[in-house]
Amino acid sequence: MKFTTKLLILLVGASLVLPVYADKKDPKLGAIKARKAEMLLRSFNAGPLFAMAKGKIPYDAKKATTMANNLKVLLELNNGAAWMQGTSNKEYKKDTTALPKIWDTWPKIADYGKDYGKAVNELAAAAGNGQDALKAKIKALGKACKECHDEFREKDK
Ligand code: HEC
Repeated sequence: MKFTTKLLILLVGASLVLPVYADKKDPKLGAIKARKAEMLLRSFNAGPLFAMAKGKIPYDAKKATTMANNLKVLLELNNGAAWMQGTSNKEYKKDTTALPKIWDTWPKIADYGKDYGKAVNELAAAAGNGQDALKAKIKALGKACKECHDEFREKDK
């Protein structure tokens, strides 16, 4: 192998490793990323469900069931470690929208989590039973996401 090729492989390798290394240096930043990733998975799966309920995309029983079940699977995740102390937007202004209130009122946020869990379970049971059944349960889901965000997330983000 040519020296330049070797060097290129080394550089590409280093660029792949570096972001992970940066998180290792600051586990709190890693935690913030992990909880945001969970939220992104929630919105990735909830998005089509909202769109189907509103008739923005055609209702598809199989897709609705899959998406709602994915939300249910995510409930099984114990991602508590991603909510470590000292990771609010006070300490990490640019990286997170999580308000200090989460930790100041801990474990109040868990009540919102319970409401959310209930909404997801009811939605998962109904999502495949037609657009009306989906519509009937999607409101509670939207409400659960919004109420927690209103309470514990920085506005306008
Ligand atoms: C129990 C509280 C709670 C519930 C329920 C909740 N979220 Fe969140 N969500 C948060 C908090 C807190 C943040 C801020 C996380 C951060 O920036 O560190 C957040 C952030 C987000 C983000 C931004 C992620 C990013 O990359 O910045 C999205 C998108 C999101 N939530 C979607 C949803 C959706 C969709 C639902 C419902 C299906 C939902 N959330 C339910 C508390 C909640």
